[in-house]
Amino acid sequence: MGEIYVRILVMRYLSLISCYVNATVSPQYSVLLAARDVEIRLYHESSWISAPVMGGTSSFNKSTHDGFHRLYQYIHGANEDDTMLQIAKPILTTITSTPNGLDYLVNMYLPSKPPMPSPQLNLHISNWKSRCIAIRTFPGFAQDDNIYKERSSLSFSLAKGFNGKNISVSEDKSSYSIAQYNSSSHNSGRVNEVWVNVLTCPSVH
Ligand SMILES: *[C@@H]1O[C@H](CO)[C@@H](O)[C@H](O)[C@H]1NC(C)=O
Ligand SMILES: *[C@@H]1O[C@H](CO)[C@@H](O)[C@H](O)[C@H]1NC(C)=O
Ligand SMILES: *[C@@H]1O[C@H](CO)[C@@H](O)[C@H](O)[C@H]1NC(C)=O
Repeated sequence: MGEIYVRILVMRYLSLISCYVNATVSPQYSVLLAARDVEIRLYHESSWISAPVMGGTSSFNKSTHDGFHRLYQYIHGANEDDTMLQIAKPILTTITSTPNGLDYLVNMYLPSKPPMPSPQLNLHISNWKSRCIAIRTFPGFAQDDNIYKERSSLSFSLAKGFNGKNISVSEDKSSYSIAQYNSSSHNSGRVNEVWVNVLTCPSVH
């Protein structure tokens, strides 16, 4: 009894802290190249936790909600240490085309050595090597009916190049990701990005 009571108190205390601190963390990167509507960033080595959402018929919207719900439980104590973790931005949904339709993987950055997730959440922790990513920012809500257009616009911008520099960027066409930075309760001032991995990082001198 006593132990459970203390644990409840600790959980309350931690959720209070997370309300007051209200800080979010994000993966670190440096900008290698930038044009008006596209940027190439070098993300440093980092850890991520990922929620696979299979099923082929699911939408981007539904998959992102499903995956985020599992990540949310993980950072709110559904892990081996029963510990509260800081929420990180962005929520990154990776969309991969497969013979059975689209697969979705919903990812969140982890700033420190993470506890293992509760097994029933079906989450995976992975370490990403540093990687180059081409990025285009867009406002509003990221939805099934606009994400593919943004992804195409990113290719178009990459083809236009970087202010006359002779740099050709080869995109990883096998998947792309949508990064969302704001909670769905914000209707304006929203920031989203479309990410495409770059196969060879451009060398910039
Ligand atoms: C996305 O999904 C959520 C929950 O499943 C729903 O409340 C919302 O209306 C959906 N939005 C769109 C644009 O389909
Ligand atoms: C651009 O670079 C490629 C190789 O990186 C080279 O073959 C090509 O001639 C260059 N084009 C111009 C206009 O400098
Ligand atoms: C949305 O997130 C971006 C990036 O973190 C932030 O700069 C912006 O202020 C947020 N918008 C709102 C309405 O909170």
